[in-house]
Amino acid sequence: DWTMAAFKAQTIQRIREQVGQGRVICGLSGGVDSSVAAKLLHEAIGDQLTCIFVDHGLLRGEEAEDVVSMFRDHFNIPLVHVDASKLFLERLAGVTDPEQKRKIIGSSFIDVFDEEAKKLGGADFLAQGTLYPDVIESVSFTGGPSVTIKSHHNVGGLPARMKLKLVEPLRELFKDEVRALGFELGLPGRMVGRHPFPGPGLAIRIPGEITRERLAILRNADRVYLDEIRKAGLYDQIWQAFAVLLPVKTVGVMGDGRTYDHVCALRAVTSTDGMTADYYPFPHDFLGRVATRIINEVQGINRVVYDITSKPPGTIEWE
Ligand code: XMP
Repeated sequence: DWTMAAFKAQTIQRIREQVGQGRVICGLSGGVDSSVAAKLLHEAIGDQLTCIFVDHGLLRGEEAEDVVSMFRDHFNIPLVHVDASKLFLERLAGVTDPEQKRKIIGSSFIDVFDEEAKKLGGADFLAQGTLYPDVIESVSFTGGPSVTIKSHHNVGGLPARMKLKLVEPLRELFKDEVRALGFELGLPGRMVGRHPFPGPGLAIRIPGEITRERLAILRNADRVYLDEIRKAGLYDQIWQAFAVLLPVKTVGVMGDGRTYDHVCALRAVTSTDGMTADYYPFPHDFLGRVATRIINEVQGINRVVYDITSKPPGTIEWE
């Protein structure tokens, strides 16, 4: 019968057969999928694996530090950490179209990744934490004709350009199974239980132009929101929760002064695979508390709204 322990043993065996003595590189994003893939690969092939973590400057608060300390320092998995935020933000300057943002981020990611891989002396395989729903959703939108809703897979051009063969050990798994595998591999609960985070990061949570200033405002609001969710003990009941910074300013009043600042939208959904989702029914007092804290603590935001759209017809992200 099928257990996660058996799946793990079998997959490790398959990875060894596929890879042989080859060298493998794996892109780490800080998310659950690539972390589980990397840990699994390391158990299978040890130091034939090198991880590359490209920091595009579109991450949340302490994400970069977390990834580096967990992999390099705690698990002793060879890890290259590249701070490429300057390049990404320069290329994104003035860009407002969501798909254009994804294209720029995807191709810049490939440029940086490719360069780092060359510095390592090349590789034979590229490992990715692709899941089953990714395989489906990148092909077509369920229930409709073959239309691309969002081009999720921004590393698609990488293997061909680098002449690499793909290793995708999680291709048959759903998210809950990846989490179970993560536990089986001994990854810490705070990593395994982490909400999914999109490859293009905060860039698709700021409709309109991305600037360092807007990124800082959004990080701040997101931190407060997630802090309240954790304190209320709701984090694990929610599939994804995040703040979105709208490029809209509205008038407000603080003390005896007029304010004119950004609107922040809060999103939280339940889901099992991200393909459909329901908005999370927070109690009103919770929402009121978060709104008050964000407006008091986050410079640049004076109004907070809650998104009650489910998927479909909405998508989880705003872009
Ligand atoms: P949507 O917004 O399409 O999101 O309902 C479904 C799931 O996919 C994530 N998402 C992305 N992940 N690159 C990614 O790696 C992307 O461009 C991207 N867009 C959306 C989203 O966070 C949700 O989990």
